[in-house]
Amino acid sequence: MQALDELIERAANAIDAADNERDLEQLRVTYLGKKGEVTALLKGLGRLPAEERPAAGQAINVAKARLEERLETRRSALNSAQLGARIAEETIDVTLPGRRRGQGGVHPHTQTMQRIETIFRNAGYGVATGPEVETEYYNFEALNIPAHHPARAMHDTFYLEGGAYLLRTHTSPVQARVMEQSQPPIRIICPGKVFRVDSDMTHSPMFHQVEGLVVDRDISFADLKGTVIEFLRVFFEADLKVRFRPSFFPFTEPSAEVDVECVHCRGAGCRVCSQSGWLEVMGCGMVHPRVLEMSGIDAETYTGFAFGFGVDRLSMLYYSVDDLRLFYDNDLRFLAQFR
Ligand code: DAH
Repeated sequence: MQALDELIERAANAIDAADNERDLEQLRVTYLGKKGEVTALLKGLGRLPAEERPAAGQAINVAKARLEERLETRRSALNSAQLGARIAEETIDVTLPGRRRGQGGVHPHTQTMQRIETIFRNAGYGVATGPEVETEYYNFEALNIPAHHPARAMHDTFYLEGGAYLLRTHTSPVQARVMEQSQPPIRIICPGKVFRVDSDMTHSPMFHQVEGLVVDRDISFADLKGTVIEFLRVFFEADLKVRFRPSFFPFTEPSAEVDVECVHCRGAGCRVCSQSGWLEVMGCGMVHPRVLEMSGIDAETYTGFAFGFGVDRLSMLYYSVDDLRLFYDNDLRFLAQFR
């Protein structure tokens, strides 16, 4: 009985001193396991005289139960200490202000493009698009720019490997594609990216154009003038003077370039308009009969006009930004001003 008391005392102290689950389990095995000390005592009962066995057996079983309880108590104490430590470690300060997500915005060029589309849709135009990787046929030939024509040299074209394809240098090829696939009346604009070997303060190797095309019976230069003047008035939200200068494009005859009164100085002359008071904003003209015919439209019955302009340039003028590269640097301090 004394040995049993000592054993329990020793085991209890060890259990209370254990500071982790593994040591606790080890103690359980040492005392209560199959080959444990308490188990050994139970097995040794048989060697006692018969009259002593019941009392001894009961005492050992009581001791065993007490140790089991002690182990359980220690185990749950360790668990809750561990949980407390984890909670303390993972504490978050819910009173800290949240992290704000920056709100995005539509790029100024895209906004300009959308405004232009809206203006033309309101006037009954449809929107057509074509591929950025084009063939020589649509980019040049179908627009009356045959091989070796000097106008080709002016386009500073990016040719793709092999030479069969190129990056379109203007949105005019969409004209030809649309005319091939439909008959008049045609009234469309073709917005999109175009590419030229060019890069400086006012030129980017990739920029945006909008092409316009109207083909129907009795379309005249007067229709072209009215359309262009009205578009510029609505776009710039001002009654600016507009002038048409005779010019040359292989796909139109007659052709003109359009100047608008400088939006900065209103014609007085400034840095933006190189002191001329005018800004050149687009090319246009009556669709050349050969261009109509090549795309399968009867030039005896129908006439048409076309125009093309750079969206980037209109964007710069509309927002009064004088370096084109700002639009492409993606500096958020710049872009955030257009939200
Ligand atoms: N495609 C011409 C260019 O990129 C712009 C242009 C001029 C388009 C006259 C036209 C036009 O439709 O009639 O320089």
